[in-house]
Amino acid sequence: MIRLMQASDVSVVAKIERLVQSHPWSVKQFEEAVSSYQSTVIEQNGQVVGFCILQPVLDEANLLLMAIDPTQQGKGLGYQILDASLNMLKNNPIQIFLEVRESNIAAINLYQKSGFHQIDLRKNYYPNPNGTKEHAIIMVKTCTDDFAELFK
Ligand SMILES: CC(C)(COP(=O)(O)OP(=O)(O)OC[C@H]1O[C@@H](n2cnc3c(N)ncnc32)[C@H](O)[C@@H]1OP(=O)(O)O)[C@@H](O)C(=O)NCCC(=O)NCCS
Repeated sequence: MIRLMQASDVSVVAKIERLVQSHPWSVKQFEEAVSSYQSTVIEQNGQVVGFCILQPVLDEANLLLMAIDPTQQGKGLGYQILDASLNMLKNNPIQIFLEVRESNIAAINLYQKSGFHQIDLRKNYYPNPNGTKEHAIIMVKTCTDDFAELFK
């Protein structure tokens, strides 16, 4: 089941985030995401096992963060929650943007499968735990055929 994130989900969501990210969002950031953004969770057998946070901005949206519990990855849940969350956006965005670490092949493949493509590279954007930096790939999904036609 995919549904909007509630304040009572934040501790589980923050735990999943800490399992998958070297620089995880804080509990406070997730609490703000519940009230400020379109935040969703996906459940398996009544347990929250993943989340997706989208920020609608005028006629666009930004995918800020998503993750699936490591024990539940590779089962199609990431694709499901991303697809459902994009369809739930109320502002009917023309384009959706995201940033992803260049080394995050699983996420890049998921985003490509979901209709995103690379438009830019932001060099040395993400900090690594060892003090080095990593490039960010900027991706976009264009939601209307009319708009895509303009840029052909
Ligand atoms: C990225 C992530 C959300 C994918 O979720 P998932 O539930 O494991 O993904 P799915 O099972 O729905 O797979 C969907 C597609 O993603 C790609 N993918 C998923 N896991 C992959 C892997 N280990 N290697 C390569 N591609 C992978 C594939 O294209 C897959 O489609 P396919 O099964 O038809 O080949 C998950 O790996 C995750 O939580 N990673 C850590 C957090 C993160 O990196 N978040 C994104 C940046 S904020």
